[in-house]
Amino acid sequence: MDAKVPSSAIPEAVQILQHGGLVAFPTETVYGLGADARNAAAVRKIFAAKGRPASNPLIVHIASFSQIASCAEIGRSFSPKLVGDRLNKLSALWPGPLSVVLPAHPSIAQEVCAGGSTVAVRIPRHPVALELLQAFGGPVAAPSANPSNYVSPTTASHVREGLGSSVGLILDGGPCHVGLESTVLSLLEQTPRVLRPGAVTRAELSLVLGCEIAGPSPGDAPSGAPLLSPGLLEKHYSPRTPVVLLPALSGASALPQQRIGTILFSPRRLPFAPTALKILSPSGDLAAVAAQLFAALRELDDGSLDLIVADTCEPAGLGEAIMDRLLRASRR
Ligand code: TXA
Ligand code: MG
Repeated sequence: MDAKVPSSAIPEAVQILQHGGLVAFPTETVYGLGADARNAAAVRKIFAAKGRPASNPLIVHIASFSQIASCAEIGRSFSPKLVGDRLNKLSALWPGPLSVVLPAHPSIAQEVCAGGSTVAVRIPRHPVALELLQAFGGPVAAPSANPSNYVSPTTASHVREGLGSSVGLILDGGPCHVGLESTVLSLLEQTPRVLRPGAVTRAELSLVLGCEIAGPSPGDAPSGAPLLSPGLLEKHYSPRTPVVLLPALSGASALPQQRIGTILFSPRRLPFAPTALKILSPSGDLAAVAAQLFAALRELDDGSLDLIVADTCEPAGLGEAIMDRLLRASRR
């Protein structure tokens, strides 16, 4: 059941944002930690609360398509007509788990863009997020509401555990339905490029835009060149307990006596006896796996285990985002 936000909570949240404070709010992907995207001092509080490097830009959230013009300057695109057409097509996917990178409008705080000249914009699908954004009426910068590099929060208690007193108010909208962060799509090049895979898949984007979609290619960046998406290369989404992927284990005999937490996408036999077991779906349904993955990682990361072993899937469709997060979590 989704939690119900008390009727007084939205006006209170708007007041906090207007006064340069921070509000954590639910989206369909993960919980965000929001501040007025035009207020540099407020945005700096986000970086401080998360311990986030100033070099990692934030996503700006808006309530409606017409607000894009207040966040982005399509006229500064490499081809304003083409980018405008592409945005119109992409509007079919909004509200939804898609962030689009565009040239930034000068009213957006420099800190949001991490000193660069581009901004990622998205219209979230969660009713509480939309209510907040409509009532506030301006752009809200919001990264995931977790300490930098830890697993993103998919419930209000995850936010409380990770950030607690540094947040002015936490709006509790229940567990997030998608469970993985939005797809980040750059429209800065001739070929649109997915910088971070998410629930809006490359195939879907290709269908909507009617063109080829490039994938994340951090390796392509010439050395010394700025990263396309600074969040891309970091070890990310990592529990404190080491994570290994199931195929990397070569049989039970290879495992020393350890307390092992295991995440399976569907029921199956294991070559070892796990201390704790999370089965995310009876049928391996990837939407269900995505929705519960971060909560499962957090639950197993309670300090009582030596290792978390995670299942894997084909890195295609939603599986591309799931495997992206698990590979990062397993990076040491
Ligand atoms: O689903 C989501 O996207 C959630 C909810 C709260 O909306 N937000 C989120 O924000 O995951 P965050 O800050 O945890 O991740 C934002 C990602 C980072 O990898 C960042 O580098 C990238 O988006 N990003 C933001 N602005 C960018 C820009 N101008 N150019 C390239 N990448 C950008
Ligand atoms: Mg994040």
